[in-house]
Amino acid sequence: MERSDFLKKTFMAAGGLATGSSLNAKIQPSIKSFANSQDPDIPLDVLNIFDLERLAKERLPVLAYDYYRSGAWDETTLKANRESFEKLKIHYKILVDVEKRDLSTTIFGQHIDFPILVAPTAFHKLAHPDGELATGRAALKAKTIMTLSSLSTTTIEEVAEATNKTFWFQLYINKQREYTRDLVARAESAGAKALVVTVDTPLWGRRERDVRNGFHLPPGLSAINLVKYQQDGIAKGQTGAGLGQSFSWVLDATLQWKDLEWLATITKLPIIIKGVCRVDDAIKATEHGIKGILVSNHGGRQMDSAPATIDVLPAIVDAVGNHATVLMDGGIRRGTDAMKALAQGAKAVLVGRPVLWGLAAGGQQGVEKALSMLREELDLGMALSGCRNLKELNRSLLQG
Ligand SMILES: Cc1cc2nc3c(=O)[nH]c(=O)nc-3n(C[C@H](O)[C@H](O)[C@H](O)COP(=O)(O)O)c2cc1C
Repeated sequence: MERSDFLKKTFMAAGGLATGSSLNAKIQPSIKSFANSQDPDIPLDVLNIFDLERLAKERLPVLAYDYYRSGAWDETTLKANRESFEKLKIHYKILVDVEKRDLSTTIFGQHIDFPILVAPTAFHKLAHPDGELATGRAALKAKTIMTLSSLSTTTIEEVAEATNKTFWFQLYINKQREYTRDLVARAESAGAKALVVTVDTPLWGRRERDVRNGFHLPPGLSAINLVKYQQDGIAKGQTGAGLGQSFSWVLDATLQWKDLEWLATITKLPIIIKGVCRVDDAIKATEHGIKGILVSNHGGRQMDSAPATIDVLPAIVDAVGNHATVLMDGGIRRGTDAMKALAQGAKAVLVGRPVLWGLAAGGQQGVEKALSMLREELDLGMALSGCRNLKELNRSLLQG
């Protein structure tokens, strides 16, 4: 479908564009260019993720922009994720030969070109008609890993193909374990290389912007991989105030550690648990044989007032030692943010919103732009700090 038709059909009934409900002069050129079914180019003055977000805001309907940007309640954790990065300083080294640099690493057996992965985020077709396919192709091209959300608007099998089976699959464990078993088997046979199990969602956090906007999936979009499991007809094109009302059936508020042991019996894939913010939980995870710990507060969308992930990361890295691989997400908008997390001991970081801004701004090329800007900033930051490879990025850089 042409981009202009997609936007009209999908959103005109749902509150208009983010910069105003009427098509103002600033927006009209972008809408016009969507009519060529070609994505408009990302303008040359988009130099960083913040610029990309501004462009995405212009090109997105209010409903979608607010859904992507929002955090829970007062959004204090959303803000803290950024503020804590800004407070950390990098004590760069001088007079190191940094002409040759290597950002590559291997993670759960997968070699990647740089340690910035795509975090799982729901409903990519809200941003662009190519949805998760565009994201997956961009991640493949960048030689990194896309994590596909359970709440995707594209099938697992299509994303497997778009990513050449390099993707990870994010799982919400459902109350009906048979449905979870089926979904895991499907992801595994499609070629997923790891399972990222989200554990910070006994219930959905309350994102008040979505409640106010009456967030709902527009007609034609659905959480396509889950449709067959839905019991009460609410996965498809429904209305309702916020995600909580529409998708509560996806979650299981009774979930406990023993359920992860069960999960390990039904899959051969490495299990990464996502949403860890405490040292004691990280230790419990290793005691339960979990091999990957993703330090995350869901980008500030679940428990508001949770600490910034970069603040809890070092203690978790220390407690876990060699027992698990520690990853981190939340608030990464610059290569220097990634540097700080890697220096604190994360094996790699994931980005959520930056990818969505790229997707909304320009489909696959927009996601490529987001990933390449972050990669280039990380590379330059390492050079300017006297680091030639990821091993040399360590805590001494943050301490001086
Ligand atoms: C719009 C949106 C949708 C998300 N959907 C999911 C999801 O389906 N599953 C999940 O585990 N996390 C989800 N997350 C959380 C991200 O995986 C990630 O933890 C967070 O975005 C990282 O913060 P950042 O956006 O500041 O990079 C979502 C985040 C956003 C912003």
